[in-house]
Amino acid sequence: MVLENTSFLDACRGRRPARTPIWMMRQAGRYLPEYREIRSKVSFLELTKTPELCAEVTLQPVDRLDVDAAILFSDILVVFDAMGVDVEFNPAPEIARPVRTAADVARLRWGDPREDVGYVLDAVRACKRALAGRVPLIGFCGAPFTTLSYLVEGKGSREYQHIKGLMFSEPALFHQLMASMTELLCTYLGGQVEAGVDALQVFDSWAGALAPVDYREHVLPHMRRLVDHVRGLGVPLIVFVRGNASLLRQSAELGADVIGVDWTIELERAIAEVGSTRVVQGNLDPQILLGPEALIERRARDVLDAGRAARAHIFNLGHGISRFTDPGKARLLVDVVHGYSG
Ligand code: CP3
Repeated sequence: MVLENTSFLDACRGRRPARTPIWMMRQAGRYLPEYREIRSKVSFLELTKTPELCAEVTLQPVDRLDVDAAILFSDILVVFDAMGVDVEFNPAPEIARPVRTAADVARLRWGDPREDVGYVLDAVRACKRALAGRVPLIGFCGAPFTTLSYLVEGKGSREYQHIKGLMFSEPALFHQLMASMTELLCTYLGGQVEAGVDALQVFDSWAGALAPVDYREHVLPHMRRLVDHVRGLGVPLIVFVRGNASLLRQSAELGADVIGVDWTIELERAIAEVGSTRVVQGNLDPQILLGPEALIERRARDVLDAGRAARAHIFNLGHGISRFTDPGKARLLVDVVHGYSG
């Protein structure tokens, strides 16, 4: 199907569209009353397993905010269905039996996400039908390190003692698990592309907890394998590492099409780090949307001005939108970005 709005994909490919494209991480979610309305009737997991509802929720921010890309409604942790691991969302994710011992590892199943998480691929097809070519659809997964961390920690963590304990004390087992996870995620992303997504984003939300030397030694080789695999799939890839701007240069080395930037670094510095021939995505602090309109406009323009130094720039928040955001302010941000002509 021919897309009506290609500004996001053009920017991914290094061309500068007439207006800077914008989408927001977690743009479908609890800050939207129409999302809360659906969630009052179904649980989060039921929602992710009902393709027609996923499509409805995926389109909510496209309709309300006029963003230039849709992101599939799902979660990075549903892939555990391919591994025989149960996760609950209350709403934060929690795994009843985290993977800690050799016996836990032996129990893991390394299934085929195209079958075991087939409902996500059905959701991709439902989203593409519902979008009818209005804007591109972004598929996603968690990066191997972030996904494995959830498996080992069992829930969000402050100190990452279990995953780092494994990494430092049993590096061979850590690498073996990372390699298996990477293959599973490669298959999963391939399935999403076959089902119709137009671009992919890999979320490494937890890699920021690592020292640069450990990212290089323990994570980068696996990310390289993932990025090389996606390069063969024919859709652009965004790699987003959160919480440690000193990893930007390494994440740029991977050669993904777009480098996600969180809000902890000035965008001009981030561009200087990765090089002005690269495409960047980011990086307004999501909590700025809790502030007054004049501040939102000013800070958005600062990010847009900085983005001009890059080969191309996709406007985004530096992390997911807060559930406390007024949807009117999110819409204001989109209008400011679209109306900008620096
Ligand atoms: O971006 C989108 O709009 C698409 C959907 C999406 C969700 N989660 C929906 C969701 C995406 C891309 C994610 C990614 C995700 N999930 C990440 C990576 C990005 C990041 O935030 O760093 C991570 C770490 C997760 C794991 C996860 N899922 C957490 C930590 C939580 C709870 C956080 C919270 O907001 O309370 C979830 C649940 C979740 N995933 C919700 C949504 C809309 C809230 C669940 C609800 O409706 O009750």
